[in-house]
Amino acid sequence: MNVSPESFSLSGKVALVTGGSRGIGKAIAVGLAKFGADVAVTSRKLPDLEEVATEIQRLGRRSIAVAAHVGRMEEINSLVPKVKDELGRIDILVNNAGTNPTMDQAMDIEERAWDSIMNLNLKGLFFLSQAVARLMKEQGGGKIINVASVAGITPDILPVYSISKAGVIMATKVMAQQWAQYNIRVNAIAPGLTKTRFSEALWSNPDVLQVAMERTPLRRVAEPNEMVGAAIFLASDASSYVTGHVLVVDGGSAI
Ligand SMILES: NC(=O)c1ccc[n+]([C@@H]2O[C@H](COP(=O)([O-])OP(=O)(O)OC[C@H]3O[C@@H](n4cnc5c(N)ncnc54)[C@H](OP(=O)(O)O)[C@@H]3O)[C@@H](O)[C@H]2O)c1
Repeated sequence: MNVSPESFSLSGKVALVTGGSRGIGKAIAVGLAKFGADVAVTSRKLPDLEEVATEIQRLGRRSIAVAAHVGRMEEINSLVPKVKDELGRIDILVNNAGTNPTMDQAMDIEERAWDSIMNLNLKGLFFLSQAVARLMKEQGGGKIINVASVAGITPDILPVYSISKAGVIMATKVMAQQWAQYNIRVNAIAPGLTKTRFSEALWSNPDVLQVAMERTPLRRVAEPNEMVGAAIFLASDASSYVTGHVLVVDGGSAI
């Protein structure tokens, strides 16, 4: 394949982005639309999603907002047919929704927090990928992009979250290996500290921020938009020979 500007085009493709209502997910959803994709956005709260869908429609793309809790199997199972019915297919899945409801350290963490983190970050990600991959297999292929974290590579102050994101990295490799035969490529983006609501307790704490900056050669926190280029690359033909890869976007903090 000759690489050209068109290699990055997502024209005619349909994407589904979880956690698409704000932060990194919203930035990626709008970014995919700017490169030509129609986009379904999902999260738990419909009003926030509808604003994003409207923004995408203003770009001239089709977009739908679907409320779903991605940690619940019944909601995952109804999400995929709904997107297929309304937008016709799914070519790109971005598993971006993630949670960390506790700052407890490993000695104190409770089962409830473990379950909530693992249900969304890992179990939901896996079973939504499975449901979408079955559709992609029928369609002749697709791309799955998992939003992991540098915390899944190096342990940080969120212990169970780190474990879940290490699982996301291995899930990426397993799915890439098993689904390549269906022309499904599976890759991950591992963001460093990014300025969103999710991580506000970290970047708004001067002590935590200082430690993070000392570890980060680029000496700043990322903006959500800085994850978009990686997503476009992995969603497009420009990355046609890339699968099972973790693209670290962290200002150099994991060096
Ligand atoms: N920010 C960082 O520093 C950072 C660094 C590395 C990795 N990440 C990862 O990046 C991803 C996006 O995080 P973010 O920083 O952009 O956070 P954010 O701004 O808080 O956005 C989180 C998104 O996930 C949705 N969500 C939360 N729980 C959900 C559930 N149970 N089911 C479906 N959707 C749910 C939220 O919408 P609703 O509330 O409407 O459900 C929202 O759209 C996460 O996987 C996170 O682990 C973030």
